[in-house]
Amino acid sequence: MEKERTLVLVKPDGVVRNLIGKIITRFEDAGLKIIGMKMVWVNENFAKKHYREDIATKHGEKVRNDLIKYIGEGPVVAMVLEGVDAIKVTRKIVGSTYPNDAQPGTIRGDFAHISKDYANSKELSVKNLIHASGNEEDAKIEVPLWFNKDEMHSYKTVHDMVCFGEFK
Ligand code: CDP
Ligand code: MG
Repeated sequence: MEKERTLVLVKPDGVVRNLIGKIITRFEDAGLKIIGMKMVWVNENFAKKHYREDIATKHGEKVRNDLIKYIGEGPVVAMVLEGVDAIKVTRKIVGSTYPNDAQPGTIRGDFAHISKDYANSKELSVKNLIHASGNEEDAKIEVPLWFNKDEMHSYKTVHDMVCFGEFK
């Protein structure tokens, strides 16, 4: 079984709420390795490549259009995390899509509480602080969309040595 890579974005609401550090700490504490990281202010064209047509199939065209605006409202912090089962583990740390449903201990559960119904009734996007690739298929598209090969780095962490058998 190979280690996986997944894309994480601290969305504009997370950046302007000064939560970048607290969010990154959750992943570092779990032993996930940050192999790429940068701050980017995306334009509409790029946002459309990230939030692809399948979002409209899942949630409707309005949600997709609003999301394209939301992700461009300010800079985001983009990172690639690497680890065993990294896609699922990252989603577990992030929590459910709607912060009112997200468990305490998750990023969305601890730092937000808005519900889908409230956001919909006010015609707002669900501001949930963070994006994480939903599955292997999404990660395969999203990681190379945001990061070139030379923006990702290979190095050893203490977790590699202690937890993954490289420390004897
Ligand atoms: O982000 P996640 O993978 O958990 O959810 P998604 O189903 O891929 O939806 C992407 C994003 O759309 C969510 O993170 C919300 O910010 C937003 N969304 C929304 O604003 N209103 C909805 N009814 C559903 C999703
Ligand atoms: Mg998703």
